[in-house]
Amino acid sequence: LVQPSEIFGQRQNSTGFDLSDEGTLARINAARQAPLDLKAAPMIAAEATGEAHTVYNPATGAAVGEVIHADADTVSRALEASAPWTAPVSERAAVLRRAADLYERNFGPIFAILAQEAGKTMLDAVGELREAVDFLRYYADEAERRPDAKPLGRVTAISPWNFPLAIFTGQISAALATGNAVLAKPAEQTPLMAAHAVALLHEAGVPRTALQLLTGDGPTVGAALTSDARIDGVVFTGSTETAQVIRRAMAANLAPGAPLIAETGGLNAMIVDSTALPEQAVRDIVASAFQSAGQRCSALRCLYVQEDVAPQMIEMIKGAMDELSVGNPWHLSTDVGPVIDREARDQIASYIAAAGNRVLHQLPSPAEGTFVAPALIQVDGIEALEREVFGPVLHVATFKARELGQVIETINATGYGLTFGLHTRIDDRVQQVCDRLHVGNLYVNRNQIGAVVGSQPFGGEGLSGTGPKAGGPRYLNRFCAPTPQTAQE
Ligand code: NAD
Ligand code: ALA
Repeated sequence: LVQPSEIFGQRQNSTGFDLSDEGTLARINAARQAPLDLKAAPMIAAEATGEAHTVYNPATGAAVGEVIHADADTVSRALEASAPWTAPVSERAAVLRRAADLYERNFGPIFAILAQEAGKTMLDAVGELREAVDFLRYYADEAERRPDAKPLGRVTAISPWNFPLAIFTGQISAALATGNAVLAKPAEQTPLMAAHAVALLHEAGVPRTALQLLTGDGPTVGAALTSDARIDGVVFTGSTETAQVIRRAMAANLAPGAPLIAETGGLNAMIVDSTALPEQAVRDIVASAFQSAGQRCSALRCLYVQEDVAPQMIEMIKGAMDELSVGNPWHLSTDVGPVIDREARDQIASYIAAAGNRVLHQLPSPAEGTFVAPALIQVDGIEALEREVFGPVLHVATFKARELGQVIETINATGYGLTFGLHTRIDDRVQQVCDRLHVGNLYVNRNQIGAVVGSQPFGGEGLSGTGPKAGGPRYLNRFCAPTPQTAQE
């Protein structure tokens, strides 16, 4: 067997945080007790102006800070002031590694912002900080493997609210490691986490002309940063619909060949056959569908269970759902926190209500805050899902053994191809699925969320993304001016 280290090299991922350690818990509690009253504003190498908006805690509706949305002049001044990071690659890598250390040391405030601005549970907050740190160190290493690479120039980085630290940092660090100037536009819902991260990156030594933060909304600030001819490339993570808007804006305004590196949504499936270990499968189904309140692009949306074991499996899933604790993301025992805002809560709740008697199971949602309790909905197949429902909603269908090929074709026919899970003990079946399914990340006999930087490069096919995969050995090539070798990849 080829060992991962032979492909990806020897690296150390972030070791994480021991939540049973009293000192660690004391620091987290101190951060938790300090009232969050943060300010986020454009951080550019020139004067910034704009309009103030309030940032709310999704779980409680309380104000947790204020954000200034950049106006058109601020975007233009930032573009004017931006300059590629010309320091030698060894120096850039050292700064990014220093930033990784600063991130780890700042875990208390980071967890507080992740919980109060994005509704992250402690489990998710720990995972998110580790992933951000891994991106910083991994892309520092990867950049040093390309000493002669030339940057694209000015890169716009547009990120979603569901990984306001990890994806935000991943995009930025890839572009910075390769010497680009970055204009970072975080999601409207999570500017406080972005401002904190950029402050740490500047403190580590990233020049202010190389990394500028432009807080604001998509249709104005995002649109301006993807339709200005001074931009040389865009890295985007978010919905498939927004990626299409950006692609059109770039085609009309940017130089031909300016790359769009897009990671988008998915209609992710899992197949569980009658040879699967039921307890293991149920644990992985519940984690894949409901961790992070289902607000992961990788989350399981449609489960196919082989008909002979379906009644037993569905009863076990319902039992496991009953054990989930839905509520305050700060409590260590919470499994499912809030969804991101009222609009999301109302949309997901209406979707579940419209399913009527196809809802096989749902616990009551907490009355206050933007919580949606996990729901299980019966469908005939994945074709019944018209769109990605970005919340804790799992659809379940059954199949007969002889229908497996047809099920794979139906999943392929959605046009998405992000993650897929398979639970089986038949080796040939693993091979059959690997050969025929069009998907970026395929997981066997485990859950299908939480790809690890450097070991499990992450990204989709078709409507789910352009590639190359984030956290993988080819990712940085797209941030560099093409060479004959990278142009072939
Ligand atoms: P979104 O598309 O609504 O927003 C993403 C970002 O795009 C935000 O910063 C937003 O302000 C910006 N934006 C919106 N309109 C824009 C425009 N016209 N021009 C430029 N920028 C614009 O997505 P979201 O709701 O923030 O995130 C959830 C989506 O992200 C889901 O579909 C999820 O599957 C996807 N996602 C994908 C991955 C992945 O790696 N494949 C990871 C996380 C999230
Ligand atoms: N990289 C994230 C995951 O794998 C989105 O869940």
